[in-house]
Amino acid sequence: MTRSLENLMAQCQLRLENLFEIYLLRPNYSATRLQQAMTYAIQNGGKRIRPLLVYATGQLFEAAAENLDAPACAIEFIHTYSLIHDDLPAMDNSDLRRGKPSCHKAFDEATAILAGDTLQSLAFDALATHSNNLSAQQRIEMIRILGHASGINGMAGGQALDLAGVDSIETLNHMYHLKTGALLTASVKMGMVASNIQDTHTMNALETYIENIGLAFQIQDDLLDVLGDAKTTGKPQGQDNLNQKITYPSLLGIEKTKEIIQQLFFSALNKIEFLGNDAEILRQLAYHLLQRKQ
Ligand code: IPE
Ligand code: IPE
Ligand code: MG
Ligand code: MG
Ligand code: MG
Repeated sequence: MTRSLENLMAQCQLRLENLFEIYLLRPNYSATRLQQAMTYAIQNGGKRIRPLLVYATGQLFEAAAENLDAPACAIEFIHTYSLIHDDLPAMDNSDLRRGKPSCHKAFDEATAILAGDTLQSLAFDALATHSNNLSAQQRIEMIRILGHASGINGMAGGQALDLAGVDSIETLNHMYHLKTGALLTASVKMGMVASNIQDTHTMNALETYIENIGLAFQIQDDLLDVLGDAKTTGKPQGQDNLNQKITYPSLLGIEKTKEIIQQLFFSALNKIEFLGNDAEILRQLAYHLLQRKQ
């Protein structure tokens, strides 16, 4: 693979397009409307950060790109499912996603629920069956990581805590770690499994790197909800306020929130400093995310 983030992004996009073709566009599923809804939600507009993290981690350890495809595709399926359900009237009730009407607006609620469910099961199907050189042990480990990160101790549990409401920075951080951090961390972990690395020092450092970024990523998301514009973010502005969510900006104000985001990114970069030039892409990715406007 490559040493520049730009090239990796382009490669990631191409590989994902091919994977979506295999799993969503080409098959003749009998449930055509469901297939259309899944395809609609997955195509265009997403930043593809999680697949990018899988490929970036893999390239650090010189893993074959073919062995990174299934986890890259699976994590984007799970993430997209989480967004479809997150937008439903019973959750955030949001009508715009990735610059287009949300899945339940473009189709209907029942179809959107099923599109989320089906993207979720397809993720595990792809991990188990995608043609590559991963061993059965590696596949099982990825399935375990993704299952854990999507479930009650991960994204879904975090979403439940979000709905229940939080009342302090500590509970807010815990909720962010689960609802957003878990899938970002799983991306890096699956990239490490595909690379067969065993060095616990490096593994722990990369985990802390992505945990810091994961927390910063959700805080930025909350900040963009206040400061961003819908044209750029592809999501309605002011949604958190409308839903009376407690967030970093609402608790600490804009300036303090910006400071905390910076600190988290610099802690993340610190953690991977010892990897030197090898970790250049992960470093570039952190800077890229620090500056994000969408
Ligand atoms: C949005 O994630 C939801 C959060 C977890 C903050 P992204 O900002 O990665 O959304 P897409 O995939 O680019 O649409
Ligand atoms: C993250 O939180 C959502 C998920 C884990 C799916 P948000 O509800 O803030 O995400 P956006 O802003 O709608 O993308
Ligand atoms: Mg939400
Ligand atoms: Mg939302
Ligand atoms: Mg948000």
